[in-house]
Amino acid sequence: MENTLDIEKKTMLDFEKIRDDFPILQSKVNNQPLVYLDNGATSQKPQQVIDAISNYYLTQNSNVHRGVHHLSQLATDEYEKARKKVALYMNAAKECEIIFTKGTTDGINLVASSFSKKHIQPGDEILITAMEHHSNIVPWQLICEEKKAILKVIPIHQNGELDIIAFETLLTAKTKLVSIIHVSNSLGTINPIEKIIELAHKNGTYVLVDGAQSIQHMPIDVQKLDCDFFTFSGHKLFGPTGIGILYGKENILNDLPPYQGGGDMIKNVTFEKTTYNELPFKFEAGTPNIEGAIGLGAAIDYVNNIGLENILLQEEELLHYCTQALASIPKVKIIGTAKLKSAVVSFVVDGCHPFDIGTLLDKMGVAVRTGHHCTQPLMDFYKIPGTIRASMAFYNSKADIDKLKTSLEKAIKMVS
Ligand code: ALA
Repeated sequence: MENTLDIEKKTMLDFEKIRDDFPILQSKVNNQPLVYLDNGATSQKPQQVIDAISNYYLTQNSNVHRGVHHLSQLATDEYEKARKKVALYMNAAKECEIIFTKGTTDGINLVASSFSKKHIQPGDEILITAMEHHSNIVPWQLICEEKKAILKVIPIHQNGELDIIAFETLLTAKTKLVSIIHVSNSLGTINPIEKIIELAHKNGTYVLVDGAQSIQHMPIDVQKLDCDFFTFSGHKLFGPTGIGILYGKENILNDLPPYQGGGDMIKNVTFEKTTYNELPFKFEAGTPNIEGAIGLGAAIDYVNNIGLENILLQEEELLHYCTQALASIPKVKIIGTAKLKSAVVSFVVDGCHPFDIGTLLDKMGVAVRTGHHCTQPLMDFYKIPGTIRASMAFYNSKADIDKLKTSLEKAIKMVS
């Protein structure tokens, strides 16, 4: 039963009106009003984010941390303000623990490279899960090959939940790092990262959380989680592409060697020896994505204004509605039925290839992702070539789901 607070929160916000903040959602695709259900791939951008980026180029454009002139100081202030917003958003203890990256993949590669130089010896083990995105598999394969380390995989149950018992067995004295997806992009499963972190730390193992699919859907408190690293992409959080965040605990980051060399990451350079800048700049070589950071800051302001608790409630309702709607269609089988799920419904249609269904849905104005979703080993586990995935954001409506359902029914008739 809903409590009074939940009802109050729901009535406080008019999501139909909020939707108007996203200009692209008013557009037509194939002469049909766009129904955008590919938020797991990238989210749409509110006018406020678009304005912040264009305002940067109109009034602030300059390089950061380099100039004494007015514009450079303005750009630096805006860039650092964005870092502060991110730190507050994920409750990092210090701003220097927030590193601007290109995105989640870049953050994972940074940790894989720097962490392994410091901590991985031949024979050491790195643990990932069977539901990882390729970006949390391949960097570790590269490192394991280089360092003669061993990559181990925590299995999952058929419903898409992690096998925690198996995890406990796989955690040994050799396990140096667990790198785990928080919310599965293909299944929507919310992994019990609190438990994983607790067990890993008891074992003296570090933990990296891939938050690409959680940061936009639920409050993240890195201090409470006590994770060692947490990484995400700006573009899934209603911000621009090409910007992301790696959070790392200050003492751990201080202890790691730099990832890339170049401007801004140095303290002093001679041909004989270079010393490195302090955090976070040690990990930000070269001119950064300034517009990206500022756009991400604006996206965080936007999300804070709506409130993650409100987003969570709205998306829970959409997830429930979408699951019911699709499960009622004969031939449709939902892949990923974990008890705790984010707003993702992945499914297959008996006798139809996901690509054909996705193409027909597009003709009817409905944007979904089809295929392996960069999780080929997970598709192999389910013995399927891929799924059709509807991934929702707070600006989606029940009318969007109704349109998905009727379009899907039509598409199934056409290909059957
Ligand atoms: N990782 C993104 C997705 O799941 C691109 O679609």
